[in-house]
Amino acid sequence: MTFSVPSDAMDTLEDQVTQALRTTDDRALTILGYGEVTLVLRLETGAGAFACKRLPVFPSRERLDRHSALVDDYVTRLDKGGVSVAETRMWHRSLRGGRAVAYCVQKALPEERLCSRLLHTAGDAWCEGFFERFLDRVESTVTPRLGLDGQASNWIDVDGELVYLDVTTPLMRDERERELLDVPLFFTSLPWLMRDVVRLAMTKSIFDKFYSPRGVVLDFLGNLHKERLERLVPRFVEQADARLDRPLDTEEISAYYRDDARMWELIQRLRRADRFVHHKILHRPYPFLLPRRVTR
Ligand SMILES: Nc1ncnc2c1ncn2[C@@H]1O[C@H](COP(=O)(O)OP(=O)(O)OP(=O)(O)O)[C@@H](O)[C@H]1O
Ligand SMILES: [Mg+2]
Repeated sequence: MTFSVPSDAMDTLEDQVTQALRTTDDRALTILGYGEVTLVLRLETGAGAFACKRLPVFPSRERLDRHSALVDDYVTRLDKGGVSVAETRMWHRSLRGGRAVAYCVQKALPEERLCSRLLHTAGDAWCEGFFERFLDRVESTVTPRLGLDGQASNWIDVDGELVYLDVTTPLMRDERERELLDVPLFFTSLPWLMRDVVRLAMTKSIFDKFYSPRGVVLDFLGNLHKERLERLVPRFVEQADARLDRPLDTEEISAYYRDDARMWELIQRLRRADRFVHHKILHRPYPFLLPRRVTR
């Protein structure tokens, strides 16, 4: 299963991304997912296909090294908790002024086995079994200091094994329950105007849900609305209630989703406005590729 990062191909890929940022034309790239923070690209090489997750540009080598160590640590701790994580390696390129751009690289796994797809295409028995396995993993890993973003699009079911994909933003807290993640860096994709406000007002609430089993399950169920899988919610709620300290109700889940969707929509709108200012007024490339449209 182990692999080495295709360095030459990564160099070419990063050139293409830089070009796409300059022109805002991303048609040369195969985009697997825009995520809320990272950009996930598919890279075909002679040695197979890869999923390459571009992180925000690091202002210094120290901050990149710190982040790489955090990713390694996160993978190890999830593994120990019984969550198999797709093998993940870092690749980076140094930029002028000590900055660096980095990617988390994984083998491209079969997209049709993504759990958000299988919940549509596989039968009821698979769905129920998947959710049971999901609950097992949430229960065995999540603590006030180790978090999980459990949404269905972060899991892939390969050869009967549930594999977790989303480790680019490690969810770990210190003994005083502060994020170990370089939060300001990961929020550089927000317009400057909003950054401080968001950092103060929302960081805690954005991240809190990932650190309790109930929060992770609530977020998972809320996200089923985005995937147009609302019909699965009542059955899953029943399955989950047997194992949670406080039962969930479907109204709470829809309300949660409405709030979450509203927040991300606002952020996307501000990012578009910010990109407009960069291009048309400042005549500078905007350093992120934005999703074409997310339907919520
Ligand atoms: N190894 C992989 N093989 C195939 N597809 C992948 C792989 N990793 C990610 N993907 C696809 O890209 C999507 C986004 O990946 P991932 O969840 O890792 O990042 P993200 O959600 O953008 O992260 P964040 O929200 O933390 O910024 C996945 O839902 C999946 O569709
Ligand atoms: Mg994800």
